[in-house]
Amino acid sequence: MSARALTTALLLVGLVAAASAWPKAPAGAVVATARLAAVRNLTTSRGHGRVEFVINGPEPVNGTVSIALNGVMANITMVHIHQRNASLNNPVRLDLVPRTPSAAPVLLDPPYSYNGGLDLTTAFDGARLARWGLSVEEFLFLLKRDKLYVNVHTLSYPGGEIQGMLKCKQPCRFG
Ligand SMILES: *[C@@H]1O[C@H](CO)[C@@H](O)[C@H](O)[C@H]1NC(C)=O
Ligand SMILES: *[C@@H]1O[C@H](CO)[C@@H](O)[C@H](O)[C@H]1NC(C)=O
Ligand SMILES: *[C@@H]1O[C@H](CO)[C@@H](O)[C@H](O)[C@H]1NC(C)=O
Ligand SMILES: *[C@@H]1O[C@H](CO)[C@@H](O)[C@H](O)[C@H]1NC(C)=O
Repeated sequence: MSARALTTALLLVGLVAAASAWPKAPAGAVVATARLAAVRNLTTSRGHGRVEFVINGPEPVNGTVSIALNGVMANITMVHIHQRNASLNNPVRLDLVPRTPSAAPVLLDPPYSYNGGLDLTTAFDGARLARWGLSVEEFLFLLKRDKLYVNVHTLSYPGGEIQGMLKCKQPCRFG
């Protein structure tokens, strides 16, 4: 096999691997994933993780946010989905952990620490989005445009220790 053919073959393997990385989901669901890592140039962290987000719809809008953390992290206080928009101050658009009774961030008490792995998988209820100021349509609009990210807050880094942009599988709308 020539070097070029080998490169092409490896690229194809890579593409297949990337495609199969989408989580299993019912037909017509919206699917997104995020890779969580230390916030570049702002934090150091021995933690990392992966988020798999499956949203069923259009009626009812519900699903699952699978949050698998690895490495080591101390004193996790909150996990949120934020909108990336500096002029709006990157607002929280959904509470994941803990679930709060109103649209105000609440700290885990006591905070979570782990060494190895921690699963923070949680149910998604689209009706909660309105509390944080977005309709389902607005949320999906931002998701499709890479404007939503998952943020893991800790005592050491109250603004977020590890983060990752949610990438939505196209066409990123209910089938
Ligand atoms: C982050 O740090 C790297 C290396 O020090 C630097 O090249 C880069 O410009 C920094 N990025 C930001 C957004 O500050
Ligand atoms: C979403 O809601 C439907 C209908 O109420 C229910 O059957 C389904 O189990 C729910 N899915 C999740 C992931 O909560
Ligand atoms: C969590 O924070 C508390 C209070 O600051 C501290 O005493 C404790 O050592 C921290 N836990 C870890 C695992 O670092
Ligand atoms: C930030 O939000 C404002 C108000 O919704 C909007 O006008 C602006 O285009 C947004 N900026 C970015 C970079 O998305």
